[in-house]
Amino acid sequence: MTFPVHAIKSNFPIFTHRPELVYLDNAATSQKPLSVIQTITDFYTKENANVHRGLYELSSRATKRYEEVRKKVISLIGASNQNTVAFTKGTTESINIVAYSFLKKKLKAGDKVVISAMEHHANLIPWQQVCKESGALLEIIPVNEVGELRLELLDSLLDKRVKLLAITHISNVLGTINPIEEIVFKAHKLKIPVLIDGAQSVGHYPIDVKKLDIDFLAFSAHKMFGPLGTGVLYCKEALAPHVDPHTYGGGSIKNVEFEETEFLDYPHKLEAGTPNIPGVLGLGAAVDYIQQLDIHEAIHHTKNLTISFKDKLKSLGGITLVGQAQNFGSIVSFQVKNIHPHDVSGFLAHANIAVRAGHHCAQPLLESMGVPATVRISFSIYNTMDDVDKTIDAILGVKKFWS
Ligand code: ALA
Repeated sequence: MTFPVHAIKSNFPIFTHRPELVYLDNAATSQKPLSVIQTITDFYTKENANVHRGLYELSSRATKRYEEVRKKVISLIGASNQNTVAFTKGTTESINIVAYSFLKKKLKAGDKVVISAMEHHANLIPWQQVCKESGALLEIIPVNEVGELRLELLDSLLDKRVKLLAITHISNVLGTINPIEEIVFKAHKLKIPVLIDGAQSVGHYPIDVKKLDIDFLAFSAHKMFGPLGTGVLYCKEALAPHVDPHTYGGGSIKNVEFEETEFLDYPHKLEAGTPNIPGVLGLGAAVDYIQQLDIHEAIHHTKNLTISFKDKLKSLGGITLVGQAQNFGSIVSFQVKNIHPHDVSGFLAHANIAVRAGHHCAQPLLESMGVPATVRISFSIYNTMDDVDKTIDAILGVKKFWS
């Protein structure tokens, strides 16, 4: 069956309002389908009330719908207990919670945290800071010239002093899909917990936290067709009691006295204050949207676009692809000879083509590869072969303009 890309595109109102838009910055944030937008609007126009606080119908309804989203999320990520899903502001906050409310109290001088060279800043800075504060060492799995992890070095990096391994599922710069099953297996042999950064993968690629035995999974709604400002921290049941509250306040407590507070269990102990209720409901609508797609057809579609784009790009000449891993997602980073990536993206912007240029919040990765900046194209389910061709034509235009 051909992938119904035009029908899918019509679900995203931005393309009706901006028919000329070629949106290729999906790794930064995806567009939102009408069902997600409508869910948020409906909440504010018809159902606005706080959760976990009121006994009246509107509040009970908001609570029920809010809690139901945890069930939707566990069905997306292969978990079995809805209480393993905490709502956060996004990937960055989820990772900070693990760094500061789980790991920090365990870390002492000489311990180690292992990450990879291809992490974006969200999965680097929290570990770097927590290591600095405790005298622990941050160890880096290097990346080879094609942008794959040098996993042959993993055994020598993992030992009893490693207290956590944090790794991205898919690189936001190189597009590399990492073999997380193998990585988790190796870490678990030494009882090292593993955090997977699913910012670029959840909702787009199947992920099964139970099968992969992932300890923590962090991701954002806004990169999977949901709203901005909402995310998830999945935590395996066995580790949940070891995650402390990170923000203190109402909604996270069992009992409060002037001297002491007894907190609720995970995930509620992480959700102090009034949560982003429409954001969470919008996440639920995004999960519904994803689950009515055929994910394998969707992957096939974006992979075809990616392969076609890379082939056409290389045929232009004077192009360097940054990242040529064997297993890759729908992200392509490249440089055009003698033209700064910002000039390329500026030129594309004039042709209504939205791409990102720069270090993509992964400055150390680019430095380690000897590349100051790239142009990055990232495809999603509503992109078409016409988008590929328009972008290739525009890049040809850039090359002619600067020649
Ligand atoms: N991490 C996001 C990106 O890759 C912001 O653009």
